[in-house]
This record gives sequence, structure tokens and C-alpha cells, in this order.
Amino acid sequence: MRVLGIETSCDETGVAVVDAARGLLSHALYSQVALHAEYGGVVPELASRDHIRKLLPLIRQALDEAGTGPSDISGIAYTAGPGLLGALLVGAGVARSLAWAWGLPAVGVHHMEGHLLAPMLDADPPAYPFVALLVSGGHTMLVDVQGLGRYRILGESLDDAAGEAFDKTAKLLGLGYPGGPALAALAGQGDPQRFHFPRPMTDRPGLDFSFSGLKTRALITLREVETDQDRADVARAFEEAVVDTLVIKCLRAIRETGAARLVVAGGVGANRRLRERLREAVQAEGASVHYPALEFCTDNGAMIALAGLLRLQAGESEDLTIRARARWGLS
Ligand code: KG4
Ligand code: ZN
Repeated sequence: MRVLGIETSCDETGVAVVDAARGLLSHALYSQVALHAEYGGVVPELASRDHIRKLLPLIRQALDEAGTGPSDISGIAYTAGPGLLGALLVGAGVARSLAWAWGLPAVGVHHMEGHLLAPMLDADPPAYPFVALLVSGGHTMLVDVQGLGRYRILGESLDDAAGEAFDKTAKLLGLGYPGGPALAALAGQGDPQRFHFPRPMTDRPGLDFSFSGLKTRALITLREVETDQDRADVARAFEEAVVDTLVIKCLRAIRETGAARLVVAGGVGANRRLRERLREAVQAEGASVHYPALEFCTDNGAMIALAGLLRLQAGESEDLTIRARARWGLS
């Protein structure tokens, strides 16, 4: 079985071909970051239009690079939500139409399920069950994963997602969009001892998160300082607070579920400090931590192709409806 996957939920057009026996055959990605940078955030209508421009050329490229064509493809997977509705509709419309023209099944995939299954693209994938930490620009959640489609949300953010908090705080620091990687780079030059930010909601039981207070804390601290080194110190204090909070909650989730494995996915999973700290802490707990390759941490078509492949292998089928949902719960 061989599946073409299409991701267009936000500001990345991703297309990939995954084969059940041979794994990932190709993947093509176009990032709209430069397009949105001058606005300081994603402009939904511009995102939709750019997906329209880029999607078919990327599909051709991914099929060529995989050395495959419609006759070798068994199904088409697309991101059906959650995300920007207009952007989702581009991918969903193209995927559903191609599937109809080529006489293939199409399957609408939950974007977060894609992130959650991305580590399965690995040559040595983690076994079920595991706890997944999903940390992206739109979501922060801990999920108990018992198997394909068997997800129980253990906790999630009550306000800003971790990536959103990174992006908003980066803006306060005068960094460009998307700010997460830029803030992390600045934090690398900061002194971790200079400022101490709170670890929100770690002083009470439960696995929910709240990150919006940290950006306010950064704002207040920034009012009192002025040099570049000061800004780096604030970035460091912010990053330490987010990372420490995520580590504390991951350990709590591992203890509560008795899981032997933690899977980390989503854009913030690319954060080096988070990776270092989690590796140490989770190993000390006697569990192991798994990351998708860096390029599959952020939005991409490969994770959608894989999720679609697993769903089609499980015998799922859909009618001809074009599915796109801006909001869509994972469970
Ligand atoms: O998963 P993703 O590509 O898109 C969403 O579905 O949201 O995640 C993007 C988010 C952005 O908020 C970005 O700033 C953040 O991931 N991010 C990072 C890093 N790389 C990406 N945040 C902190 N440190 C990083 N190295
Ligand atoms: Zn994402």
C-alpha cells in the first residue's frame, strides 16, 4: 500500500508519499514563513491563496521524486482539521478531487494525530502504548496513546499553546515571526540565573497547562531593562520556565500512566533545551523518550501520509465528502 499525503492546515504546504513496505519515498515542503513575516503572523487569506499556487506543483514533485504515479497509489490522505478553514479547504478539495479522478479512497486526517504518529516514520519506531507530548503553535497537550485512534487527553493548555507563548514573547523581544526558533537562539546567550519566572500550574495536581502569564511576566521584566544582554536573559528565563513546566508535567504523566515511553511531537519539540532536559529527566525515571526527525517535528506532509496509510490499512473508508473543520477535538 502506498499513500499520498497532503498538509495545508496553516502556513506550510507539505506533500509526501509513504509506502507500507519501504517507508517514506519522498516529501516536499514549501514554507510560507517569508510571506507572512512582514505581518508578524499568519494572514489566513494569504495562506489559502499560496496553498492554491503551490499544492499541485508540490504533488507533481513528490510523485516524481518517489518515482511513482497515480496507478501505484492506493489512497490519498489530507489534513481535515483543526486549522485555518480556508487553508484546510484547499488541501481537502484537491485531495478529494484527485482521489475521485484517480478512483482512489481519500481519508481526512486529524492534524494532531499526524504530529502524534510522526515518530512512527522512524526506522526504529516506538511501540504502543506511550504518552505523547504535543507542543505546537496551536496546541499543547499530553495524550495517553494506547494504539491507533485510541487517544485519551490527560491534560492541555487552558490558554496559550507553548509555541504561541514562544511566538508572542518573541514579538515582545523584538524578534521576527515565527519567533520560537529566534527566541531559543537568543536564550542560548542568556544567563539562566538572572531572572526567575514561575512554573505555571505545577504547584497543584493535574496535567493542564497555562502559558499566557509567562508572556506578561516577560513584558513586565522587559520594561525594567534595556541592553541586548538583558533581553537574552529574559529570553532564557522564559525558555527555562516553559521547558521546566513541560518536563514536570511529562514526568507526572509518565508516573500516572506507568508508561515506559514518551513521544514528543509538534514544532516546539524542535527546541534543543527541551530535548536535553527531557532526555535526562525521562531516563532518570526509567522510561525512554522518542522524537520524530527534526524536519517531521514541524508541519509536513509525511506525518499526514503515514496517518492516512495506517487508517487505510486498518480498513477505514470515507464517502465523497470534502472534510474540513477549523475546530476538531482529538479524542
Ligand atoms: O507544529 P508546528 O510547525 O505548527 C503548528 O501546528 O502550530 O509548530 C510551530 C510552532 C511555532 O509556534 C514555533 O515558534 C515553534 O513551533 N517552534 C519552536 C522552535 N521551533 C519551532 N519553539 C521553540 N523552540 C524552537 N526551537
Ligand atoms: Zn502542526
